[in-house]
Amino acid sequence: MWQIVLLSAIVGLIIYMFYTHYILPLYHFKSKDIPHPKAKIVFGNVLDDWYHGSHVNQIRNIQNFGRVYGTLIGTVPIIWISDPDMIKEITTKKFHCFVNRHQDIPLTIDVLCYGIVIARDERWKRIRRILSPTFSTSKLKQALVVINDTSQQVVDNLIHSLSSEECHQTQAINYTKMYTTAILKSTLANSFGVYSDITRDGKLGKAIHTIFHNQGSAVMLASISPFLTKYFAKLIPGTFEAFNVLDDTVKQAIRARRKENPSNRRKDLLNLLLESQDSETLSEKEISAQATTFLLGGYESTRNTLIFATYLITTHPEIQQKLIDEIDSYSPDQESLTYDVISKLPYLDMVVSEVLRLYPSFPEISRDVEQDVTIAGVKLCKGDAIKIPVYGIHRDSEFWPNPEKFLPERFSAESTQKRHNCCYLPFGLGPRSCIGLRLALFTIKVFLVKQLQQFEFKVCEQTVTSLEIEAKASLSPLSDLFVQIVKRK
Ligand SMILES: *[C@@H]1O[C@H](CO)[C@@H](O)[C@H](O)[C@H]1NC(C)=O
Ligand SMILES: *[C@@H]1O[C@H](CO)[C@@H](O)[C@H](O)[C@H]1NC(C)=O
Repeated sequence: MWQIVLLSAIVGLIIYMFYTHYILPLYHFKSKDIPHPKAKIVFGNVLDDWYHGSHVNQIRNIQNFGRVYGTLIGTVPIIWISDPDMIKEITTKKFHCFVNRHQDIPLTIDVLCYGIVIARDERWKRIRRILSPTFSTSKLKQALVVINDTSQQVVDNLIHSLSSEECHQTQAINYTKMYTTAILKSTLANSFGVYSDITRDGKLGKAIHTIFHNQGSAVMLASISPFLTKYFAKLIPGTFEAFNVLDDTVKQAIRARRKENPSNRRKDLLNLLLESQDSETLSEKEISAQATTFLLGGYESTRNTLIFATYLITTHPEIQQKLIDEIDSYSPDQESLTYDVISKLPYLDMVVSEVLRLYPSFPEISRDVEQDVTIAGVKLCKGDAIKIPVYGIHRDSEFWPNPEKFLPERFSAESTQKRHNCCYLPFGLGPRSCIGLRLALFTIKVFLVKQLQQFEFKVCEQTVTSLEIEAKASLSPLSDLFVQIVKRK
């Protein structure tokens, strides 16, 4: 008899848990009166995202459900907000209610949790306060030597390959490969103090490969079971060890630097991090976490933006010509390419801005709601997760007429002034916006200018007619980019 009672109790408990975990969330938005696409049990809306791409679904959902809608990532409800006034409230005016980023994958790895992107509350405030001066223009100028050097090597190599006889001053280049190698090199040098070439088979090369290639599986896992993902690092082979390798690499570099005479130290980002501590200090663990964060946040997104930029410039010869004319008049040679010149080229800035509108590196911004608050009549409760569909907003015809077209003129001073400043969010907004913005823009611009000083980009047989993309942790090109280069002078 008691066995039957026990069995019924267990079955009852399982049904109850299943109901609260998997059935109740399906009615979450109905009870809040928030429009939403139909969700599937267990998966929520993630099957759609896997199938069409989450970035494409942003556009559809805004069209079908408006500026406030809900989706379920597995069983976790997310409120998506694409109204510019509400975005301003969330990112800036009522920032105190939205201090922390929402993590789809609850991370348990220190080198990530202590990084400025993911750190929460007081820890985040302290780190941001210490790092902010480091990323000021005057300080950053020191760290730019690394980028200048890496980009110069790239251009020298390209010029060299052009001048070899068999290619008659033109050459098809695998730009995916070229930018991957170059940006990884400059990021590792700047953030990790690693100046030697790394190989795919070496410890560090393997670790980086593992981390960037396991992103997809981590996200999939996160979407099905937030519970399991607490242990995701341990479930996906090699990831945990890979982060340890990064951590060890930075810590070794820090110890080596501390032994050096400060005046002889290389002027790179790692050095700025070490010098950033006067009144307040970052622990060694925290410095290591920032370096890892710069690698994860900076390497892939900068590389991808350069690929997108090169693709768009190549396929729009009239825009390329205008860019070349501007470069020739402001900075015809290597020596004239100072930080100030680079940051002042107006057309270059418009071109890069438009590249980032079409292909924002981070297609969504997320926040946890820290206290009950009502924004434009929408009640948000402590514990809710919200997201801003950056990709969808950037391709919304209400803000950007003819949104699929590459039109740098959208960013002329006049057009920019006419637009709500919260429709353009490649680096986020407010106190939690991207701290590496200047560094990223400088890197992208230097690589483009140095190349265009020397040669033109031309479409060749291997150039794809349309560049397929996927939304991983950052928006990435799926197809490889081949472009022909032709010597200018
Ligand atoms: C181009 O480079 C990418 C990235 O390194 C590589 O995966 C791909 O195989 C290369 N394509 C060719 C045809 O060499
Ligand atoms: C960048 O490197 C070039 C060539 O090595 C040099 O002439 C130029 O002054 C450097 N620019 C900056 C801003 O360091």
